[in-house]
Amino acid sequence: VAPSPLPKPIPFVDLRAQRQRLGRRIDDAIAAVLAHGQFIDGEEVARLERDLEKFSGARHAVACANGTDALVLALRAGSVGAGDAVLVPAFTFAATAEAVALVGATLVFVDVLPDTFNIDPDHLNATLECAASGGARPKAIIAVDLFGQPADYDSLRAIARRHELMLIADAAQSFGATWRSIRTGTLVDVTTTSFFPAKPLGCYGDGGAIFCDDDETARVLRSLRSHGQGGRRYEHIAVGLNSRLDTLQAAILIEKLAIFQDELDARNVIAERYSAGLTGIAARTPILRPEATSSWSQYTLISADRDAAVETIRKSGVPIAIHYPIALNDQAAYRGYPSGPGGTPVAAELARGVFSLPMHPYLDNDTQDSIIAVVREALSR
Ligand SMILES: Cc1ncc(COP(=O)(O)O)c(C=O)c1O
Repeated sequence: VAPSPLPKPIPFVDLRAQRQRLGRRIDDAIAAVLAHGQFIDGEEVARLERDLEKFSGARHAVACANGTDALVLALRAGSVGAGDAVLVPAFTFAATAEAVALVGATLVFVDVLPDTFNIDPDHLNATLECAASGGARPKAIIAVDLFGQPADYDSLRAIARRHELMLIADAAQSFGATWRSIRTGTLVDVTTTSFFPAKPLGCYGDGGAIFCDDDETARVLRSLRSHGQGGRRYEHIAVGLNSRLDTLQAAILIEKLAIFQDELDARNVIAERYSAGLTGIAARTPILRPEATSSWSQYTLISADRDAAVETIRKSGVPIAIHYPIALNDQAAYRGYPSGPGGTPVAAELARGVFSLPMHPYLDNDTQDSIIAVVREALSR
């Protein structure tokens, strides 16, 4: 049966549908900020932080300018810098590695698991043993919850404890997801996230946040995000950043967070529908660990014949994204940093095979059925 004609164009992420649903609530929130005029550190920022704490269960949520700064601030709060090595997965967005380089620390790339795409605890162990004998001073691990699924925090916490390392969760793609029914934000000492518009919880520009339970860490983070400010204005106790979240973005996020759980539920239904509709094709559908729920920032398939399949699917009018076509340790910017023993063959293989389908909470059944039909045809065995 020929696939039914596609309702064109299909957006990869439909922010317009969400905007329509929120309607006047966004306009009113923006108007309120325009009226009071406190564009930096307005009351909405503190209100959003309280809402984020409530949602995540973390004692402290510290809003900041973006998810990359959130990582930089987390590393700085952990006193990670020159002479320290930070272990990161080789298959992630560049920002995870970029933050490490920006604080002057050395990167060490670790391979990922072929099923969840998250950092491989066994390779992490092997890399740490190798690093110790090579004279490097490992100080921290950044685990990334790729495409929305939390990494294996049972194993990672044990490894971090054994080696006395700081464990940071880069939850830029997984805010709202859970590991053993606990939300990202409280699974490790410090968690970061991004509110980039296309993220599961996105604002209308750049934004980010850091989550922690420790009062002192939260105090340092608040100081660092505002030029290392001390107790008084124009008193500076540390070299910080200008990394505050704009009041306007906070006001927008308050409204979006109010419907976020509903959107997460919708993303889960859509992911299940994709997986049910795509059985038996010549590609692997996402695998969720039994301990995990995902916030489905991406729905990502793997095919041995990825490039040909993607070309056919795109020609049929379905937008496809490739996250990510090059493993980080194969990127020109990061090629000079070492990887764990045996290199990172899984990351290299994933870069050749992955591709992501349209995924957002407002994907209706008819559109999704059309996408499924196109993908099935392109990948029929
Ligand atoms: C895994 C990961 N880490 C960090 C970031 C950085 O976030 P931002 O774009 O808000 O700086 C992103 C997204 O962009 C990401 O996907």
